[in-house]
Amino acid sequence: MKLVLIGAGGHSKVIRDVAHNAEHTIVACLDDRYKELYFTSGMYFGPISAVKAVLLVHPDAKLVIAIGDNGTRKTIMQKLMLPSSLYATIVHQQAVISPSAKIGYGTVIMPGAVINADAVVGEHTIINTRAVIEHDNAVEDFAHISPGAVLAGGVCIKQGVHIGANATVLPNVLVGEWTTIGAGAVVVTNMPSYVTAVGVPATIIKTKMVRGI
Ligand SMILES: CC(C)(COP(=O)(O)OP(=O)(O)OC[C@H]1O[C@@H](n2cnc3c(N)ncnc32)[C@H](O)[C@@H]1OP(=O)(O)O)[C@@H](O)C(=O)NCCC(=O)NCCS
Repeated sequence: MKLVLIGAGGHSKVIRDVAHNAEHTIVACLDDRYKELYFTSGMYFGPISAVKAVLLVHPDAKLVIAIGDNGTRKTIMQKLMLPSSLYATIVHQQAVISPSAKIGYGTVIMPGAVINADAVVGEHTIINTRAVIEHDNAVEDFAHISPGAVLAGGVCIKQGVHIGANATVLPNVLVGEWTTIGAGAVVVTNMPSYVTAVGVPATIIKTKMVRGI
């Protein structure tokens, strides 16, 4: 598949490797750090506004918003106003996905990740290196499950949640939208929306001021 990456930062570099592993060809990298569209080394570089021009040249290409920040991914997706089916789902060959799991458009599954039976992963999410999404999980759009994090069975992760590296969420727990769980935390009870929680067991240390992304 031909791919257009939106974003040229650190997360984009990681996605580039995953895309190559999955035998996709990157035809463009768009980021507002580039002021105008140009072609070099076999691909286009340019501002995000050039996406339609690139799709005219490569009408069969799919997009990935290759930006680590959950809110920024959502903002860009909303601004582009393109149909969901124009976004690729990218799965590293060393990820293990149950045949009964469902994965949405624009989502990237990194090496060593495991997604078990009947899990549903939404659109534009990141399931990072060696993260485990157990059976019957619901991970909503724009979430990021960081490297080594474990979501036990029946967990519900609402839109825009960031689960930090090596954190664990116990069975059937719900984490409310746009909440951040710190690295290494163990979430033992439901968490409200728009908070930051850390520690074992996870406790709330902050309430976020920005709402309604
Ligand atoms: C939880 C987190 C988001 C907090 O970041 P922040 O809002 O900038 O908060 P601060 O760094 O100001 O820390 C606030 C307090 O929480 C503590 N704290 C921060 N992260 C913590 C963690 N993961 N576990 C335990 N305590 C933590 C800090 O020591 C500080 O304590 P103090 O008030 O007693 O000094 C961040 O530390 C974190 O863990 N992010 C996850 C990063 C990650 O896994 N990224 C993966 C990318 S692939």
